Amino acid sequence: ETGIIIAIDGPAGSGKSSVARLVAERLGIVNLNTGAAYRAVGLLALREGVDLGDGEALGLLAGRVRLEPGGVLVDGRRLEEGELRAPEVSAAASRVSAHPEVRRVLLPVQREAAERARRIGGAVVEGRDIGTVVLPGADLKVFLSASPEERARRRALQTGREDEVERIREAILERDRQDSERAVSPLRPAPDATVIDTTGMGLDEVVERVVHLARGAR
Ligand code: C5P
Repeated sequence: ETGIIIAIDGPAGSGKSSVARLVAERLGIVNLNTGAAYRAVGLLALREGVDLGDGEALGLLAGRVRLEPGGVLVDGRRLEEGELRAPEVSAAASRVSAHPEVRRVLLPVQREAAERARRIGGAVVEGRDIGTVVLPGADLKVFLSASPEERARRRALQTGREDEVERIREAILERDRQDSERAVSPLRPAPDATVIDTTGMGLDEVVERVVHLARGAR
């Protein structure tokens, strides 16, 4: 009757995005990257000069964002991966995501995208609070973690900034702190999530584990 919904949460650099994309491919279902919606709000704020402390104004920007399989739309236009991944956009995304006004607007945006995907087979939905807040009824919840050192190394390799591991590690720790200490939807595993510490694990190994869990959850 309906498709499977898999929630994958975890901190920056835990491998969430790669794991979510590959698991979705393996299962032939949609991948929704909810971080892209927060990044889109951050990018809009930077472009339009909106104060990153002004929750109300940022909530209005969030109203222009739509989430789609494999991407995000602003005013109906798809944003490029390159614009969304810039370090200043990462930092802005983390700041805007602490505002309840922004989270309130993006909640139905994420739920509706997941519901559309569920009707066509299912989705791997990736973020920070998917298993705890956005989709508490998900069929499978996975929380990926890894040491800050390992996450910084992965991010550096991914972005070709191997000489900047230490700076990246600092930025990751700062984002962890903001994401886990904020009052609304702090980053933490759902009580019924399977936690996988991916430190020292290969990507294929993690994907295999999640696919195995998904087959059991259907
Ligand atoms: O996953 P990604 O690094 O692209 O997310 C960017 C930022 O968006 C995170 O640092 C976090 O602050 C925020 N975010 C969130 N809730 C989500 C997904 C992302 O608060 N479900």
